[in-house]
Amino acid sequence: MKTETIFVDKNVNSKKTYAHAVDILNAGQVVAFPTETVYGLGAVATDDTAVKRIFEAKGRPSDNPLIVHIGTIEELKNYIEEIPQAAEKCMEAFWPGPLTIVMKAKSGVLAPSVTAGLSTVGIRMPDHPVALELLHTLQKPLAAPSANRSGKPSPTKAEHVAEDLEGIIPCILDGGTTGIGLESTVLDVTLHPPVILRPGGVTKEMLERVIGTVLEPTHEEQRVEATPKAPGMKYTHYAPDAPVFLIEETADIAAAVESLQRQGHKVALLAPKSYEEVSVDYFFTFGEEHNQEQMGANLYDALRNCDKTDATIILATATSKEGMGSAIMNRLEKAAGEKWYKF
Ligand code: TXA
Ligand code: MG
Repeated sequence: MKTETIFVDKNVNSKKTYAHAVDILNAGQVVAFPTETVYGLGAVATDDTAVKRIFEAKGRPSDNPLIVHIGTIEELKNYIEEIPQAAEKCMEAFWPGPLTIVMKAKSGVLAPSVTAGLSTVGIRMPDHPVALELLHTLQKPLAAPSANRSGKPSPTKAEHVAEDLEGIIPCILDGGTTGIGLESTVLDVTLHPPVILRPGGVTKEMLERVIGTVLEPTHEEQRVEATPKAPGMKYTHYAPDAPVFLIEETADIAAAVESLQRQGHKVALLAPKSYEEVSVDYFFTFGEEHNQEQMGANLYDALRNCDKTDATIILATATSKEGMGSAIMNRLEKAAGEKWYKF
């Protein structure tokens, strides 16, 4: 299959572009598009054959449900049995935005593959002009996981989507680099108190200001069988080919690099810009020091870049788990298998 990439932000004839993408979707095919978090791989959420194509293209296990994207709050009632008050409050505060709300699904409306047999569904309204224009033109809900092959980091650029899915999907809408760079927060409001199944751009603190107590299980707690989890969490998450070790930003990083090189390692360093002077084999920046927004936005690109080198070990600087740091450290700890560099 030939993959067509269309630049949407610079497109002079954008109405035609969206109509073209909608035609592909209505024909039961998939289209990759940017959101404010990461690129999504969309299919019409009520068309089971189309949704199955997402699983095929990604190589995604069929028991891992997809997030449904909508363009207006009004249409939510078509898919949800009863909208809990906590959900109403969250939608008002955070939609459009990086918050997926898990609620009880109306039966028989969405394609069975979307919910992977669960009685609940995760829904969000993305805050990106391209995603919203696509949804408004389509006037149907879009099931869309991140547009990467399973086991790869989520794509934050159209080039990342092409790296993974060129020749496998018909169309990529290229809207440039996504803003947040990490997947949305997944909040289950069918539980009392509500539980964060995956940390993201909308933090626990932000949620608690709107709906009161919210639980956010730690890694250790998530290992316990009884802890509520997103089905996707049981699958191995992306780790670069070379082992990743976390290191404190305040540690003597130059000394760590030197010691590893003396042992014969080729070292890739993922760190704030201020470390670019460290003499290391490969350097990929997280952005300005103490800037978690930039760190989140650059993390997946930096991890992908490591796999394009012959580094034998990767050092990545950690950040505090406050605010956005919770989502960043969640992804970094997974990539590192929770290993820390020891002097
Ligand atoms: O930011 C995002 O959320 C991106 C963009 C494209 O919107 N999408 C995304 O989708 O990250 P995906 O499929 O890569 O991650 C969806 C996560 C998975 O961990 C899945 O298990 C969980 O959400 N999930 C989906 N439906 C669920 C449900 N009904 N109950 C619990 N977890 C659910
Ligand atoms: Mg994903």
